[in-house]
Amino acid sequence: IQISYTEYASPAELEREDRELLERAIEATEGSYAPYSSFNVGAAVRLSNGEIVSAANQENAAYPSGLCAERTALFYAHAKYPSENVVALAVVAKSGGKLTPGLTYPCGACRQVLQESQTRAGADVRIIVGSATKVLVLDSVEALLPFAFDNLN
Ligand code: THU
Repeated sequence: IQISYTEYASPAELEREDRELLERAIEATEGSYAPYSSFNVGAAVRLSNGEIVSAANQENAAYPSGLCAERTALFYAHAKYPSENVVALAVVAKSGGKLTPGLTYPCGACRQVLQESQTRAGADVRIIVGSATKVLVLDSVEALLPFAFDNLN
């Protein structure tokens, strides 16, 4: 297994579409409801029709009932545009009103959902992970989830 990714020192170095998606993910942190963790995550999904759908994490008093920003965005994107493919997803988190110094990688459950989006698309989904200090771009969900469970293949 070979995993390749590109690390950028700042969003300014990204290509335009990736930078735009990351900006939309940062904006989306405003919609975070995280009274329990105070960790405000934003995600933005680019679809094959050019639409960008963004969302934020939604917590709940019954903790496991909450949902991550990535899955909120992916499920909404698929529900609203069922025949469009996911092309890319950007994710970022704020803590104390500031972008986190470290990268916020999608959790295991979100990786599995990203895998399904990639299978549905029949093409690699690009993942952009932002932070206050650097940005990572991965060309495929395979880089985050090798040996994925995929019942459609
Ligand atoms: N969270 C996300 O929304 N995305 C991630 O990639 C990691 C974790 C949320 C879940 C919970 O609301 C908070 O961040 C703390 O774990």
